[in-house]
Amino acid sequence: MQEERTPEIGKGRPRGPDLVDGRKGPLPLAAIESSEEMRLLTKVGEFDRVLGGGVVTGSVTLVGGDPGIGKTTLLLQILPQLADGSEQVLYVSGEESPRQIKMRCERLGIQSHALLILPETNLEEILKTASETAPAALVIDSIQTTFSSHLTSAPGSVSQVQEVAAQVMFFAKRSGTPAFLIGHVTKDGAIAGPRTLEHIVDTVLYFEGEKGHAYRILRAVKNRFGSTNEIGVFEMTDAGLQEVSNPSAWFLSERPQKATGSVVVASLEGTRPILVELQALVSPTTFAMPRRMANGVEANRVALLVAVMEKRMGLNLAGQDIYVNVVGGLQIDEPALDLGIVAAVTSSLRNRPIAPTTVVFGEVGLGGEVRAVGQAEIRLREAAKMGFQRCLLPERNILKMPPIESLELLGVSEVGEALHAIFS
Ligand code: TYD
Ligand code: MG
Repeated sequence: MQEERTPEIGKGRPRGPDLVDGRKGPLPLAAIESSEEMRLLTKVGEFDRVLGGGVVTGSVTLVGGDPGIGKTTLLLQILPQLADGSEQVLYVSGEESPRQIKMRCERLGIQSHALLILPETNLEEILKTASETAPAALVIDSIQTTFSSHLTSAPGSVSQVQEVAAQVMFFAKRSGTPAFLIGHVTKDGAIAGPRTLEHIVDTVLYFEGEKGHAYRILRAVKNRFGSTNEIGVFEMTDAGLQEVSNPSAWFLSERPQKATGSVVVASLEGTRPILVELQALVSPTTFAMPRRMANGVEANRVALLVAVMEKRMGLNLAGQDIYVNVVGGLQIDEPALDLGIVAAVTSSLRNRPIAPTTVVFGEVGLGGEVRAVGQAEIRLREAAKMGFQRCLLPERNILKMPPIESLELLGVSEVGEALHAIFS
């Protein structure tokens, strides 16, 4: 008799696609069969889009986000859609009791027989149940509460979350079950977690939004099966998350028509154009140092543009407090907003409103020049679609632009010229 030990399940264990395909050794590229990956549609367009056209079978997706942002809600709403006919999906919760989940589902209007709820934090038990029930999809909420009994470290530690992710990956690849891992992240990344997993899983989605604002953005930061340029926009309502298929209309819905300091800018989130309202308020300061406050845009960018306006256009802003805000709580960091910031600040300073049918975009350089930005055409098409009549954009962007129906294009090459066009 010879003793045969089961290999210690630990760091050195072989894992990955080799083992899954059951063959070893290198193959010439030409000899490898290619096949379209199988995708399941959730029928939630915004979600499918972010994943690159549906959920790939056998893929592992990490959904990260701040606590309370709506990750549980999102997956509870979407998951049952993956079950077809007699299939069921397995929702493993280590955070909430089945009763809590039931109450939430009632509020969300989910009464699916296809949804199996398992309150469990032990990974081995979870995978055992998953093997037995063969669900159409698996969700583990959250990765921080799940632990493998093969490791002695505490749940949520780096080694635990990595082990859980690796085991789930193995299960998903072997069974073809798409799996979703929910992970909490804090602003400073303090919790060991999602960040250390990004290289293990196939897809990493971040669910973002501002506290106190209803909109939520689902963003792909890594995707082995699609582009990372896609975003999905949702609105958190009292009946759960709703898709926002026309974000521009949503962000512009409460725009004042004749207010000073307000301008619409055409920005880009990934490949998606979004028109947002930018507001500025300029008022004489009562402080020794005038205040500069920016919400949704980088404060440094505003300071830089203010300096350009003072130096290149001779505006006197030294005695003025300046507040800049992107309406709706959106965070935008692309230079195409520059011209909008300059226009909004000037509008407030001069107390002159900007025509509500005008949209602007363009990067502003330190010399006061307006520089070309990427993807001008899709920004313009979005503006035309939303009924805008006039667009101020960098001269260079106009050069090869085909005419856009019902939109007057005004190319500008420096800020003074732009402001003249806006306020004349
Ligand atoms: P949740 O999905 O529990 O967040 P996470 O799993 O990311 O921690 O979402 C919790 C928040 O969402 C909660 O503060 C209330 C809000 N919410 C709504 O506004 N409407 C709803 O229908 C639901 C279910 C939650
Ligand atoms: Mg949750």
